[in-house]
Amino acid sequence: MSFTETKALYNDHVLQTYARYDVCFVKGEGSYLFDDTGKRYLDFSSGIGVNSVGHAHPDWVAAVTAQAAALVHTSNLYYTEPGGKLAKKLCELSGLNSVFFANSGAEANEGLIKAARKYSEDKYDKNRHIVVTLKRSFHGRTLTALAATGQDSFHTHFQPLTPGFTHVEPDDIGALEALDGGVCAVLLEAVQGEGGVYPLDQGYVRAVAKLCAERDWLLLFDEVQTGIGRCGSWFAFRQYDVIPDGISFAKGVAGGFPLGGFILGEKAKGAFAPGLHGATFGGTPLGCAAGLATLGILEGFVGDVARKGRLLRDGIEAFGSAKIRGTRGLGMMIGISVEGDPKAYVKELLARGLICLSAGSDAVRLLPPLTLSDAEINEGLVILKEVLG
Ligand SMILES: Cc1ncc(COP(=O)(O)O)c(C=O)c1O
Repeated sequence: MSFTETKALYNDHVLQTYARYDVCFVKGEGSYLFDDTGKRYLDFSSGIGVNSVGHAHPDWVAAVTAQAAALVHTSNLYYTEPGGKLAKKLCELSGLNSVFFANSGAEANEGLIKAARKYSEDKYDKNRHIVVTLKRSFHGRTLTALAATGQDSFHTHFQPLTPGFTHVEPDDIGALEALDGGVCAVLLEAVQGEGGVYPLDQGYVRAVAKLCAERDWLLLFDEVQTGIGRCGSWFAFRQYDVIPDGISFAKGVAGGFPLGGFILGEKAKGAFAPGLHGATFGGTPLGCAAGLATLGILEGFVGDVARKGRLLRDGIEAFGSAKIRGTRGLGMMIGISVEGDPKAYVKELLARGLICLSAGSDAVRLLPPLTLSDAEINEGLVILKEVLG
């Protein structure tokens, strides 16, 4: 089928919710994607932070095909080995206690929010139900995740959203302290991704944790984009010297297989009892086998993420370009603050064979596979310099 025919199928039959680039990918291999003309692209986007182990990693392919041939889905009325093993692994990596498996980031965050409300209702009363999030945050597209999202532009057209959310300025502990009754939890992204790749201040996050402990608000982290090694530790909160009561995860956890969920700590894990939460496709043996294979591969890479992120940022800053105001981020979650429209640069980079993203109003965003090699970093820097240098 020609590109024109494929595009016509999308135009005629797919809801027009995305502004797609004129590229049709047919194959992925490691850090590269190939389009239908055979053109090769270096992937610095990982499908928006999902393909954490690159494309078609042989260990991932072997694990997924073996599991697909054995058992794909049973429903959550029964036990399967991959689900138990992946939950144990995620508890070990996070230091928290109990996992719920869902499918996407928004769904994972909704579960965390339900946990916070139930915890607070059990201990106090129904009126103590407000979840505080930060301005510039992004937590997903369902009506409740949109209500949590601290960006008005996402709220337009979809009112009324789920009530019970308050948004405060990031890095302003006074704004949080000023809130009085009714709060049950604070939900943070350690690095605000979609908002423009802004890491939260260390002192701020520690002050939030202290306030949460004093007021018995649950401290929750949305680790959908920052988690699973992306920022240089298995979960980004681990670089902030705090212990949350719950975290969500999705994107990179299963290397491209749709899987998400949340993990609760000791304090909140009793909030749910059988029947209070569920997801038909959550934690299938196939998804969990993909997750186990992904985490197994990443064990050899997470320790090197901070260095590779630094290498990329140093390389970009060394351009000394007037088009670049600076870089920000954590690990391999990188924002390049640019003069002008970041989307225009992303389009030009794509034409030259480098896949990047934009974020917020000023950032070209890089979320490469965590398996990226130093040679591939240098190859990407050459293209970045052609466009941004
Ligand atoms: C921090 C964060 N939370 C939640 C989401 C929503 O995830 P999903 O699109 O899987 O629902 C995203 C997606 O970009 C995200 O970056």
